[in-house]
Amino acid sequence: MEFVTYEVENQIGIITINRPKALNALNSAVLDDLEEALNGVDLDTVRVLILTGAGEKSFVAGADIGEMSNLTKAEGEAFGKKGNDLFRRIETFPIPVIAAVNGFALGGGCEISMSCDIRICSDNAVFGQPEVGLGITPGFGGTQRLARIVGVGMAKQMIYSARNIKADEAYRIGLVNAVYPQEELMPAAKKLAATIAKNAPIAVRNCKKAINDGLQTDMDQALVIEEKLFGDCFETYDQKEGMAAFLEKRKVEAFLNK
Ligand code: CAA
Repeated sequence: MEFVTYEVENQIGIITINRPKALNALNSAVLDDLEEALNGVDLDTVRVLILTGAGEKSFVAGADIGEMSNLTKAEGEAFGKKGNDLFRRIETFPIPVIAAVNGFALGGGCEISMSCDIRICSDNAVFGQPEVGLGITPGFGGTQRLARIVGVGMAKQMIYSARNIKADEAYRIGLVNAVYPQEELMPAAKKLAATIAKNAPIAVRNCKKAINDGLQTDMDQALVIEEKLFGDCFETYDQKEGMAAFLEKRKVEAFLNK
């Protein structure tokens, strides 16, 4: 992969978008590399993913404006679908994905972070959907996910005004869960990932699925989704070990992802 690196540390997979000359902007090649990185994740061993950007200035400065500048209507729609398909894959990836937003998260950068389960950022992070200033709409899910995360009124204000917001405001409106000094961001992301990775993996995955699938339907259906995923856990070794450990007043020996 030319524009993405993937490494694994203690059950945590770290995907880094690495195109610093263009502030990690997403062109088709970067989107293809991200797809390939996801294909390479070994779900038997990796329990959490962290997504970040290379360098100290930018997470992702958006979709590549140069590549988009001459697109036709059909090509624009296809480019939107390419990003949407990939981001939906991230959103529905079986294990949790943490976005460690280390600088600019504009347009497609804000959008890819919103396809992750959890966003944390450095104090130099800047979020925004500047698309209407370029004559386009957000095209990689921004019109849909921003409203779901920060509420319709705030999402419309950000998108219609194309105004960027800094880390503290992103925190205030609930777009990120926490803000860290730059050098503490990756350690914090890894610590959070390790905390998640310690828990029963099938249970964690089922929680992700229950929350995601439940949010797409009405409460009665959503609770049925939860009941099924809850029930599935009782067929696992990890449920037996987790509950036995509690009842025997001992620590869990190991969750085995089965
Ligand atoms: N696409 C392509 N190239 C980009 C880029 C982008 N989104 N963002 C930055 N770059 C490139 C710049 O062109 C520049 O390249 P050169 O050195 O070859 O000139 C390099 O990255 C460094 O950028 P700047 O010199 O502009 O750096 P800066 O510190 O002065 O400004 C910035 C940083 C405020 C992020 C500014 O680069 C910027 O505004 N970028 C564009 C942000 C944007 O509008 N993103 C949304 C794109 S549209 C989108 O994402 C649509 C969608 O929803 C799918």
